[in-house]
Amino acid sequence: GITRHYKFDIEMTNVTRLCHTKSMVTVNGQFPGPRIVAREGDRVIVKVVNHVQSNVSIHWHGVRQLRSAWADGPAYVAQCPIQTGQSYVYNFTIVAQRGTLFWHAHISWLRATIYGPIIILPERGVPYPFAKPYKEVPVIFGEWWNADTEAVINQALQTGGGPNVSDAYTINGLPGPLYDCSAKDTFKLRVKPGRTYLLRIINAALNDELFFSIANHTLTMVEVDAVYMKPFDTNTLIITPGQTANVLLRTKLSFPGATFLMLARPYATGQGTFDNSTTAGILEYQHPNASSSPSFSKKLPRLKPSLPSLNDTKFVADFTSKLRSLATTQYPAKVPQTIDRHFFFTVGLGTSPCPKNQTCQGPNGTKFAATVNNVSFSMPTTALLQSHFFGQSKGVYTPDFPIVPLTAFNYTGIPPNNTLVSNGTRLVVLPFNTSVELVMQDTSILGNESHPLHLHGFNYFVVGQGFGNYDPAEDPANFNLADPVERNTVGVPPGGWVAIRFLADNPGVWFMHCHLEVHTSWGLKMAWLVLDGHLPDQKLPPPPADLPKC
Ligand code: C2O
Repeated sequence: GITRHYKFDIEMTNVTRLCHTKSMVTVNGQFPGPRIVAREGDRVIVKVVNHVQSNVSIHWHGVRQLRSAWADGPAYVAQCPIQTGQSYVYNFTIVAQRGTLFWHAHISWLRATIYGPIIILPERGVPYPFAKPYKEVPVIFGEWWNADTEAVINQALQTGGGPNVSDAYTINGLPGPLYDCSAKDTFKLRVKPGRTYLLRIINAALNDELFFSIANHTLTMVEVDAVYMKPFDTNTLIITPGQTANVLLRTKLSFPGATFLMLARPYATGQGTFDNSTTAGILEYQHPNASSSPSFSKKLPRLKPSLPSLNDTKFVADFTSKLRSLATTQYPAKVPQTIDRHFFFTVGLGTSPCPKNQTCQGPNGTKFAATVNNVSFSMPTTALLQSHFFGQSKGVYTPDFPIVPLTAFNYTGIPPNNTLVSNGTRLVVLPFNTSVELVMQDTSILGNESHPLHLHGFNYFVVGQGFGNYDPAEDPANFNLADPVERNTVGVPPGGWVAIRFLADNPGVWFMHCHLEVHTSWGLKMAWLVLDGHLPDQKLPPPPADLPKC
């Protein structure tokens, strides 16, 4: 591979959407941010310079970071944040991955405005395992708030209630024509008839899983989270925050000059308030006489796709059960067939006492919290990886994350009386090359909600899923150990469970959290500490000299 250099200047930029102009944090003044393009095997070097008042850090979401945990990015986990006026060089190699991923800020809620695509092409000369597309187009979903990001986070954290919901969803930063004062800010995809387009879809929204569909067109899923899969056709796809998908769109021969709406709208099962608006883009076929192409921004296409209802859990379960690894000789599914450690984690919400001088909006005046195994993760004030590497863990974290829930769990659909959480910065320690099976069970305490769980540093195989209680006696017999989908983010079904397997072959401290930002803030997060192996190439090298200090 070759080395690709990028420079990210973090700077304030005025951006206008929905007739509201705000000064917001961007990379290089762009919203969404610049594309990272690399081939499998390339080294990527990104110099990030912070010119704003807030601390920042950047995460390369889904990049495995083999033996480069120092470049992973989550603030206070992999590194201390980059402070005002300082810089840090992220340096990593893309190993055995190709497809679409994305990068985003990983501190506070700055990823609301700081995100962009990572496009990983196969090695030179290696074809896609599907027909070569005529064109490739990133399609990135996000959210727009008229208010400042900081005002939104303060609302969520200081009132102990839910966050302000966004004012719009966006496609490539554009809300589209279904919002007031937004028609000119519409994503338009101009296509030729009879061609194949590769849409590189990314859900960079903060808090919502989304359905996506294009009127009168079929989408062929070919890759998720930068792993090829067995292709299948669908009219609608579901994508959680943190997930990416490559889909093929074959245009028809028969629609000269026609336009179609593409829509994205939330899948939401919880009880809280959320933005239930719809973002739209326009697919426009080239007119036979291209120069007389009508200006379509004046009138909306008549043809709209129909999307599943907001809480269509069955659609989501059916869709996700169709995802399968390609599992060929060239692209094998390396599913761990035996396991060294089995874990059972509950994930869900809970409550903590309302601090003095606050009015909290949780049940009975409590503050909302969220947990893994009843532990609400407290962020340290220094970086976990650094503390581990230099043997200074005392007072920073403890290696005693509970391997079963602190409160025995039984899903009945009725919330328990005691929803209080405990707090701590507790890690699971794994020897190098441990093969792990993890069952994650949604507790549905305070609402049946799907949680997209993202693991840093690894892909995992989703070997099983189901509703109700996970049954250790019955369910493992039905696990798919042959061609399960391989990914980095999976939605734990509302009132259900998923089982994943991964091989802990990457030394470092690896964050795992719900990719709904509000749940991360409330504590639905934990970290795995994977120890060095004995061989030289199984050890994490020392940090680069410019690693930020806290
Ligand atoms: Cu995309 Cu820890 O995040």
